[in-house]
Amino acid sequence: MSVDKEALRREIARLRAEIREHDYRYYVLNRPIISDAEYDRLKRRLIELEEKLGEPVPPDSPSQTVGAPPAFRPVRHASRMFSLANAFSEAEVEEFVQRVREAAGGLLVRFVAEPKIDGLAINLRYEFGVLVLAATRGDGTTGEEVTANARTIADIPKEISGKARALSLLEVRGEVYMPKEAFAALNERLVAEGARPFANPRNAAAGSLRQKDPEITASRGLRFFAHSAGAGADALAASQQELLETFRALGFPIQEYEVAENTEELLAIHARLAERRAALPYEIDGVVYKVDDFALQRRLGETAHHPRWAIAHKFPAEEATTTIRRIVWQVGRTGALTPVAEMDPVHVGGATVSRATLHNPQQIARLGAREGARVVIRRAGDVIPEIVQVLDYPEDAPLPEVPARCPVCGAHVVQPEGEAVPRCTGGLSCPAQLAERIKHFVSREAMDIEGMGEKLVERLVAEGIVRNVADLYRLPWDVLRGWEGIGEKKIANLQKALAASKTRPWDRFLFALGIRHVGRATAARIAQRYRRWEDFRDAMLAAGELAQRLSEAERKEAIRLAAKGKAHEAPEDLRALAEAIGLLMQVEDVGPEAAASIVEFFAEPHNRKVIAALQQAGVAPQPVAGAETSSPIAGKTIVLTGALASMPRAQAQELLRKAGAHPATSVSRRTDFVVAGPGAGSKRKKAEELGIPIVDEAQLLTWLREAGVLEE
Ligand code: IVH
Repeated sequence: MSVDKEALRREIARLRAEIREHDYRYYVLNRPIISDAEYDRLKRRLIELEEKLGEPVPPDSPSQTVGAPPAFRPVRHASRMFSLANAFSEAEVEEFVQRVREAAGGLLVRFVAEPKIDGLAINLRYEFGVLVLAATRGDGTTGEEVTANARTIADIPKEISGKARALSLLEVRGEVYMPKEAFAALNERLVAEGARPFANPRNAAAGSLRQKDPEITASRGLRFFAHSAGAGADALAASQQELLETFRALGFPIQEYEVAENTEELLAIHARLAERRAALPYEIDGVVYKVDDFALQRRLGETAHHPRWAIAHKFPAEEATTTIRRIVWQVGRTGALTPVAEMDPVHVGGATVSRATLHNPQQIARLGAREGARVVIRRAGDVIPEIVQVLDYPEDAPLPEVPARCPVCGAHVVQPEGEAVPRCTGGLSCPAQLAERIKHFVSREAMDIEGMGEKLVERLVAEGIVRNVADLYRLPWDVLRGWEGIGEKKIANLQKALAASKTRPWDRFLFALGIRHVGRATAARIAQRYRRWEDFRDAMLAAGELAQRLSEAERKEAIRLAAKGKAHEAPEDLRALAEAIGLLMQVEDVGPEAAASIVEFFAEPHNRKVIAALQQAGVAPQPVAGAETSSPIAGKTIVLTGALASMPRAQAQELLRKAGAHPATSVSRRTDFVVAGPGAGSKRKKAEELGIPIVDEAQLLTWLREAGVLEE
């Protein structure tokens, strides 16, 4: 073939691909990216080149057709796309190897082993090195055209060089797949948009490739591995290994493969891949063993459906069908209630499974899961089994409801607005949450009870000695004596640490209670606002008591009004609650969620009991410096003049600021008080003239003490 002709054919192939792409954009997407004039120019050029070449023009050349190919039109593959026979046992693999050996006349046989990707097969048609058509496998003879979509997959070369440029036709075959990460992200997005998630990455890959709009395909993170060839294969290579290496050289991604010569080696590869399976970034469902030598492949031939020279040795199925018997609610460490399905035991992913998570009530509704439902469950590697699909269910079976009370401790269950997970409100006493709660309570940033380590907490909870945080302050030391690591010295230190923790500043105490949405910073801001723990506690206990008597809807209404700053408009029986929440929400950082969570906490009888028990045990959280509301001088403008005996003026000004007052340097009508010491002159005089109260240093110190910014 002359070099000129070859170049001409390549140019023609390129033009055909380009024109098909523009046809698709124009007719299917209604979004052309070139002008009609430019399009006509491309078409004229194609006709010109086809004439120049002087060879028969195929009827599907864009020079011969008018208008667009319909989306997903059927296309015939140049050579048949086979599927693979499966082997599920070692005996079946051994049989396969024996059959191949017989055909080889007892000669040594080489096999190539490759992971079997769980994606969808695609046929890529290259003419003179140019990608002109991509089609799905379909029935093996005829598939659907997906050229525009396949072109968005970066792994698929649009043009290849080397040997392939000389071939008028080459069919590269491989797998389009969606990596696990992209699959998880896509499903998360679909769920957030209220759409149905895909059951597995293969379905997701197929759905993403079969999109009318290639931009959607492009956004789905699809990838490609080449694994075989149709027409043109023999011109490229004489064996599977050579084919894969040629693919690699041409710029196609290929998987890692291994070479083996007997059953034992094949099985060892299978075992190794089964181990690595979970760590791979994409799903595989077995290992494909292929006779390496193409000549031997030809001799073995094919059945109606699959080649005799290859077999897929499958991993144990990761999906199975079973029936839900009961749906129970499990309480996690943070109080989250998770629905779990108890099912008829099935073998899946190499283990017998009888429980699977349903994640949350939305998932139950989405799947339609209920008792008696037949379901598809999935267990991949060590991952927790999951229900991915409900097949059918008894007509009269209702959807399960979220329980009103915690199945572990009996406290109320709430479903915070905008959150997926219902929660137990028995925070301080629910055994399911206890150990973690207590670890938080004693932690450095909270009550800072030194020596109360994780192990000790866990043992105290496990032995039933500590059932809530108040129990920490009445430990039966005689019982603990003799426990591993608990000597006299340790006990003395623990007692000291416990005693010291009783008078922590109350923002830390509030944080230690572990109320949802009340982190350190929020606790500190609340403590600034209410100053004394007792003030806050009494207000919240009152609000909580009221909330307890109201319905869920009424509580929500109170929160809604408070959030709008309209607490005073609330119906009388809600007003006190709305006002308490409104007050809370005046604290920077406290939104309706946090306010509701705080009120829920104090509404729960279990928590109220623990608060009382803590008080009884002598826990007396201390006021926080600089709190505004109880400071007698909050918001007041105060001028210091003359000498101070107890501290430098700068320090006094700083303390005034902490107490919420504004220290000023000159006296005006807006001054509230003047603190005058010995040697005060013109400022004192001005205050007298304006009738502004003048006080002495003793009064200043009293105020500062009352504001809690100066030690008694
Ligand atoms: S070779 C004639 N190699 O499995 C065999 N196929 O059930 C040509 N598959 O349709 C295919 N990974 O889509 C081959 N490494 C691999 C594969 C693989 C996945 C798919 C392929 C085929 C199906 C057969």
